Formats: sequence, C-alpha cells, structure tokens
Amino acid sequence: MLVEVLHLLTTPIPWAHRRRGYLRESVLLLSRSRRCRAAWAGHLAESRAAVIAACAGLERRRVAVVLGSGLLQDVPLAHLAARFDAVRLVDAVHLWPARRQARAYPNVTLVTADLIPGRDGADSLAALCGSSDVDFVVSANVLSQLPILPLDRPGFVPPDLGARIVAGHLDGLARLAARVCLLTDVEQVEQDRDGRVTDRIDLLHGIGLGTPDRTWIWDLAPFGEAARHLRQQHRVQAFLDWRGP
Ligand SMILES: C[S@@+](CC[C@H](N)C(=O)[O-])C[C@H]1O[C@@H](n2cnc3c(N)ncnc32)[C@H](O)[C@@H]1O
Repeated sequence: MLVEVLHLLTTPIPWAHRRRGYLRESVLLLSRSRRCRAAWAGHLAESRAAVIAACAGLERRRVAVVLGSGLLQDVPLAHLAARFDAVRLVDAVHLWPARRQARAYPNVTLVTADLIPGRDGADSLAALCGSSDVDFVVSANVLSQLPILPLDRPGFVPPDLGARIVAGHLDGLARLAARVCLLTDVEQVEQDRDGRVTDRIDLLHGIGLGTPDRTWIWDLAPFGEAARHLRQQHRVQAFLDWRGP
C-alpha cells in the first residue's frame, strides 16, 4: 500500500494522463503482477519469445518502437537494445521500475504518449512510428487496454466507442511500413472450481483478427485473486508480421 502511494506521488506523468486514470491503473497492474508472479510467468515468457521471433531476420535494425511498453515485463528489452540502434518505449505512464530498467541502456528512450487514435493528434501511430528509420514496431498487449478507461468515464459513452478505438489502433498499425508484431489478449473466460464457464468477455469489442501465428492462455486472475472460487483467464494471440485484418 505504501509503495503504491509512493508511486502515485512521485511518478512523473502529464496531468491529462493522471486525470484520465493511467497512473492509478499502472500502479494497480504493478501490484497485481507481483501478487500473480508465478501465474503470469508463462504469458510473459511467451510474449517475449514472440517479439524475439518477430524481429529475427530483419534486414535493417535501426529504430524499434514498443507501444504499451508499461512495466516492461513482456518486453525483451536487453534483446532489442542489443539488436537495434535505438529503442523507443511508448506508454501513457512509465513507473520507476521501468524507468530504471530503461536507464541501463544508452540507446533506449521513453516516450510518454496517449495511444488512443485521434486523441494526441490525427494519427498518433504515424507520428510515433511512421518515420522511415523505424524498422520494427511491437504493440505489446495494449490493444485490449485502450478502450477500458474511455468506456469507464462518466456520462454518455457511444455504444461503438470500444470497437472504434480497437479498429483505429489496428488500422494505424496496418499503415506502418515497419514490420509490426501484434500481441494482444482477445477474450476473457471466467471459470469456477468445477471448470464451468461462468462468463466470457470479448476484449476486442467484436473486431476479429484472423488466424494468429501463436496463441496461449494468460492466467490473469487465479482463484483467490479477483474472487475466491472464480478464476479469469485471457486468450492471447501473437501476430509476428501484422498486416491488418
Ligand atoms: C497490460 S499493460 C501491457 C503490458 C506491458 N507491455 C508490460 O510489459 O508491462 C497495458 C499498458 O497499456 C498502457 N495503456 C493503456 N491505455 C493507454 C493509452 N491510451 N495510451 C498509452 N498507453 C496506454 C498502460 O499504461 C499499460 O502500461
């Protein structure tokens, strides 16, 4: 609890991002990732392996951009920093543990930006990763997260907002010239202790992705984390060379 308060008080973050709730969400994610370290290990290892496979064989390795770099748990940072001239880590918020990791590499920089399509400019992805020296882009388990806070805000929320945000990010990725590695959870399945499915949530709001190169299960909330007799698992998909749905 004390650690969470310290992060909330000391993390450098633009006021607009703090007001929209990104700092709070990131601190909660950090705490949960520590509680669920063992349960998340497989998912994080699969994600890092997919990124490493996706950038293998690239002819040019100038700039790599990681969208939704967050806590850097699913990002093989040492691998990217060793292979690319420069690595840019993009997120709405960078907590101190990620800042410390990034500082260990002189060619890694942090970019604080809102990835909601249209919010920080007409096409934020083109601005962040559209320059001709960017050879590799990773969308690192951020796609399903993008609609969460906008859908949670008070007042009228257009019914298609989630789908528009998801589609906007995918369209932005598909327009990039660089090789794009897309990692995303697509579905949440809630089960009781007898294995009965009690709930299913489409995390991409009806947007289909096609056939992934790899797929695995992320044990997001094992029994006892969100509820004593229920667990939540996410189905994750990896596309090593995303070119659009
Ligand atoms: C599940 S985490 C991704 C995991 C992350 N790659 C890691 O290794 O910790 C989702 C990330 O998306 C970021 N995020 C969510 N909405 C965002 C937005 N609108 N703009 C930028 N980043 C956003 C969060 O801050 C968080 O770091």
